[in-house]
Amino acid sequence: MINHPSQVIAIGGASGLIGSALCTALELDGHTVKRLVRRPVKDPDREIYWKPSAGEIDTDALQGVDATVHLGGAGLAEHRWTDEYKQKIRESRVKSTRLLCETLAGFEKKPRVHVNASAIGYYGVRGDERIDETSPGGKGYLADVCRDWETATQPAWESGIRVCQIRIGVVLSSEGGALSKMLTPFRMGAGGTLGSGDQYMSWVALADVVSAIQFALDHDPLHGAVNATAPNPVTNREFTQTLGELLHRPTVMRTPAFAVRLMVGSEMADELLLGGARIYPTRLTGEGFEFACPDIRTALKAALAE
Ligand SMILES: NC(=O)c1ccc[n+]([C@@H]2O[C@H](COP(=O)([O-])OP(=O)(O)OC[C@H]3O[C@@H](n4cnc5c(N)ncnc54)[C@H](OP(=O)(O)O)[C@@H]3O)[C@@H](O)[C@H]2O)c1
Repeated sequence: MINHPSQVIAIGGASGLIGSALCTALELDGHTVKRLVRRPVKDPDREIYWKPSAGEIDTDALQGVDATVHLGGAGLAEHRWTDEYKQKIRESRVKSTRLLCETLAGFEKKPRVHVNASAIGYYGVRGDERIDETSPGGKGYLADVCRDWETATQPAWESGIRVCQIRIGVVLSSEGGALSKMLTPFRMGAGGTLGSGDQYMSWVALADVVSAIQFALDHDPLHGAVNATAPNPVTNREFTQTLGELLHRPTVMRTPAFAVRLMVGSEMADELLLGGARIYPTRLTGEGFEFACPDIRTALKAALAE
């Protein structure tokens, strides 16, 4: 960070795909990172205890940090969307965000900025409509969760803290997330389009989502909703073809919509895999952010080389 060197930054969800990469990037830049951990603290210089499900957080240890980031939440695709698991997806995000933001709001010396994860699920399923941060939210389970998740940051911004809600796209990495799950079938030559293949996929390279969070931490004019998606969203067909070409594998094994629904359940299939939205990062590009991987071929090459 150029404008704010040597900051103390507390991070929730630090052990995850984005969190681990962010912690490494911030520490390499000379910042002190304090991970919010949901287990007993082992290293008090680097960790702060919290247990969001029980409303517990070590406020003394959190006092005085310069900035906070929260990326935590139960995995969206780790489990079939039963009513119980849907509640876990929602509560793990909304409760933890509210606990952190209420705690920060109560501090006399507040952090300069709070950056909270959100997701492009906010916009719902939108065909080929061009979407940016000025577009209204969508309908459906994920859109509702994202709305509640973003609203949970309210205590922080009402208390005067600058807050960015980062609406993250499909993160491309071979270390985790959607792409890592696709690699085995694609490498076996069993990859192919899902449903019609026309649905848009608004993706972002792991390195770029980490840089976007660092940009939000550093860049004082930025606040509110910020899309972290690459400037060139692609259809599922284009994504499939590009990945197949890079892996030198055929991609003719099209999975029809009914089969996708049978495999993962209709709601998850329709909202995560068969539906999509064509999203543009207007706030980031408008503020001068530059993507290291602006096109799908560059991003997939970078992910496959990780
Ligand atoms: N990856 C993507 O494609 C993508 C796309 C859109 C939005 N996002 C959002 O961005 C955030 C970070 O993504 P990610 O890919 O880094 O996620 P991730 O790898 O699944 O990590 C999320 C972290 O959340 C914490 N966590 C897990 N279960 C939890 C629970 N039940 N209650 C509270 N915390 C829990 C864990 O960290 P600790 O054990 O350290 O607490 C976990 O490492 C998530 O909220 C995700 O929804 C990700």
